[in-house]
Amino acid sequence: MGLSIIILAAGQGTRMRSDLPKVLQPLAGKPLLAHVLACSRALAADDVCVVYGHGAEDVQAELPEPDIRWALQAEQLGTGHAVQRAMPETPDENRVLILAGDVPLLMPATLERLLAETPAGEMAVLTVDMDDPTGYGRIVRANDSVQYIVEQKDASDDQCRIREINTGVILCPGDKLKSWLANLGNNNSQGEYYLTDVIALAVADNVKVHGIKADSSMEVMGINDKKQLAEAERALQARLVDELMQEGVGFADPARVDIRGTLKCGKDVFIDVNAVFEGDVELGDGTKIESNNLIRESKLGASTMVHSNCHIEGATTGANCEIGPFARLRPGAELADNVKVGNFVEIKKSTVADGSKVNHLTYIGDAEIGAGVNVGAGTITCNYDGANKHKTKIGDGAFIGSGVELVAPVEIGAGATIGAGSTITRRAPGDSLTLERSKQKSIEGWAKPVNKDTK
Ligand code: UD1
Ligand code: CA
Repeated sequence: MGLSIIILAAGQGTRMRSDLPKVLQPLAGKPLLAHVLACSRALAADDVCVVYGHGAEDVQAELPEPDIRWALQAEQLGTGHAVQRAMPETPDENRVLILAGDVPLLMPATLERLLAETPAGEMAVLTVDMDDPTGYGRIVRANDSVQYIVEQKDASDDQCRIREINTGVILCPGDKLKSWLANLGNNNSQGEYYLTDVIALAVADNVKVHGIKADSSMEVMGINDKKQLAEAERALQARLVDELMQEGVGFADPARVDIRGTLKCGKDVFIDVNAVFEGDVELGDGTKIESNNLIRESKLGASTMVHSNCHIEGATTGANCEIGPFARLRPGAELADNVKVGNFVEIKKSTVADGSKVNHLTYIGDAEIGAGVNVGAGTITCNYDGANKHKTKIGDGAFIGSGVELVAPVEIGAGATIGAGSTITRRAPGDSLTLERSKQKSIEGWAKPVNKDTK
């Protein structure tokens, strides 16, 4: 028996009060819908269909996955109406698993259990007991099976007291679902075609509806507003950090770190508070990340130390590097082993070879720096002439004095020394001292200016 998955993602999400469609609101750096899709991928379905509508183009653009079947729900007339849009191309003989695009923490194992515990030809609703069931559809049971679901807005006071809720995950035989959907009405407080009304139609058709309970209410929480989005973010962060701690990663405070992408860590990595990781980040064995760092799409080699307050993006380091505090590595910064980058240093699209040091107040852009180079404080590679970028090359073992301007394109030979304060516009030969300065003058008896107002 085949499996079709339908993900409902057409709604606007009015309660978000945002121009961004609800299913594109970011959770751990990815749209809500991307989390649901990732979960559905784990089930090896024959067919995954996303029902889209509000913000149609943006939603499709954010998820350029080629094997998604898209079903347009141009007008959002309810969850039942949404599923109907996906049915024409859904094979009758398949089981249909319906997921909501706003329930992002769902785990594949829970869905696998739902599939395994529901006999062929029968139906199931994933439910959970919530301490505070406000806003959710309530599960009305009799004789251990589900009789119907009543939405909060249509529920009596007694029904509102039911704590077992509909998570929005429903499993149905395809052929029967088609016929029940055709019989839905919209005579309810919201004037919508509710998918949840399918349950009563199934019961009337003598199809058993299993109410299968999820283990955790957090896993199945629906995200309707910013408060729930923030709650889900913390829950997901806790899950990601738990996984890393089990792999041996140390955190000063598991609640004060954010992983918005994939963080891969070697052995004995330690991460202090307020570190934010975005995209694919890799930290080698023994790496230490001090407090207040943003690290995005970067790979740091073994035993690298990142001191506080750095901004690192699209960078790689070798082993034993030391970065910061207050350093900025921009895309294309490639540091070899044993490199030191100190405070208020910015490095962009440049390679720095083994053991070199750029320790204070410096800009390095479009440069190739050899091994064992010392770049003095306040050095600038002048890489941009207002129209084009040019390269600076510094040979192995060169010593660049403080406050030097290297006007690119320019090359400094291996072992060269550049005197402090020089503006270098031509090749500086290796193993020699190059200076570019005006002669120092002193004016004896020079009268200091005085403040006219105090006269
Ligand atoms: C829905 C359920 C409720 C359940 C809750 C779980 C119905 C009628 N109610 O309520 O029983 O407890 O989810 O979180 O099903 N959508 C469409 N097209 C539409 C309307 C909605 O695609 O016309 C999509 C939304 O984008 C969203 C999902 O369906 O991803 C759920 O819609 P939402 O409006 O959030 O339903 P709830 O009121 O939360
Ligand atoms: Ca919802």
